Amino acid sequence: MTDIAGGPDLPQERRLVTEIPGPKSLELHARKVASVAPGVGTMLPVYTVAAGGGVIVDVDGNSLIDLGSGIAVTTVGNAAPRVSAAVAQQAAAFTHTCFMITPYEGYVRVAEALNRLTPGSHEKRSVLFNSGAEAVENAVKIARSYTKKQAVVAFDHAYHGRTNLTMALTAKNMPYKSGFGPFAAEIYRAPMSYPFRDDGVDGPAAARRAIDVIDKQIGAGNLAAVIIEPIQGEGGFVVPADGFLPALLDWCHANNVVFIADEVQTGFARTGEMFACDHEGVVPDLIATAKGIAGGLPLSAVTGRADMMDAPHVGGLGGTYGGNPIACAAALAVIETIEADGLVDRARTIGKTMLDRLTTLQSADPRIGDVRGRGAMVAVELVRPGTTEPDADLARTVAAASHVQGVVVLTCGTYGNVLRLLPPLSIPDHLLSEGLDVLERAFASA
Ligand SMILES: Cc1ncc(COP(=O)(O)O)c(C=O)c1O
Repeated sequence: MTDIAGGPDLPQERRLVTEIPGPKSLELHARKVASVAPGVGTMLPVYTVAAGGGVIVDVDGNSLIDLGSGIAVTTVGNAAPRVSAAVAQQAAAFTHTCFMITPYEGYVRVAEALNRLTPGSHEKRSVLFNSGAEAVENAVKIARSYTKKQAVVAFDHAYHGRTNLTMALTAKNMPYKSGFGPFAAEIYRAPMSYPFRDDGVDGPAAARRAIDVIDKQIGAGNLAAVIIEPIQGEGGFVVPADGFLPALLDWCHANNVVFIADEVQTGFARTGEMFACDHEGVVPDLIATAKGIAGGLPLSAVTGRADMMDAPHVGGLGGTYGGNPIACAAALAVIETIEADGLVDRARTIGKTMLDRLTTLQSADPRIGDVRGRGAMVAVELVRPGTTEPDADLARTVAAASHVQGVVVLTCGTYGNVLRLLPPLSIPDHLLSEGLDVLERAFASA
């Protein structure tokens, strides 16, 4: 516990009063190492006492610029005022009944909001869970129940979670899958559209390439669903070429295959639209959401076409905590904040600032092979100059150099060579700009 109030009223400054990590963080980290299973890694062991706006304050009194949002979760800001107030109010009223036992309005209101906000104006239903992986698992259950088919196609570079089914859907072996098999059956992989590594293959051609694999290796008659992140997250912020997603969607519809969009990382204003599918007018059959939905409270959802969502029998979906009342109160406050504060536009503005700065940096630094992203979800892919050969060491070095200067940036990518920026949309301009200055100096020193 801490007596420092977080939220946007925290001084919005980068302030380093010790080395990073400082002595108190190191002390806590020694306790972590002795007590927490090492399988849960720690990117930057600064122990947080408060956060908000665009900063994270640690136990040593350092104030770091947050360009990660706890992996795209605190989109509306940490301890965002409406969220904190709604959580406190709900926690004082009741904390749990189990929606499957005696329900409550908050869950219904979140379902109504998701049905309204997700792409498409058709009749929809929603169901709530706790984590992104759980939402993805349930989207697959719903697709199988509806189509009475079993196979599922995921893509190269995909990340869908760490449970057994979602490990199978996830592409990357280390660290997500190695040693944890056997994995769920009837999962197949198709090639992704990855413009930087695709040698000019356009979106429709990349879709034909994927569909060819699906036709030859699985067959639409066996295929329940295609699941795809409209912009890949952990895989490296891969934005597929224009036309890839619409062509896949058309093929799915022509073949009674459910198109599932995994918008766990891209949803809720992050990309400068409410959902990443909106950039190309793609209307998925089912959409999995989590992360940014509830400002840090554990909540996830599957939203989709009413006839599909109605397929599973009563009792076939659910879970003890799914749609917990406190998480629902947080989600309603998040949605109100996004809409009232114009955060979709704010994501676009932040994205333009980041893309402009990083593109300028790229023109002077041949190690930056690609700058890409949408809205406040932007990355640089690092390579050996003049090639597309990944340079993961450089990504690690630049991230570490930023961290010791008090800027939280994350890495990702199948090859570990991508630096990604996911600032909270509550970050003030001056901090975003300072964070990018620090990143620029980290490149210069690397
Ligand atoms: C696209 C995507 N799907 C699913 C997940 C899994 O979500 P969770 O960690 O909440 O289970 C993630 C998490 O990073 C993700 O980015």
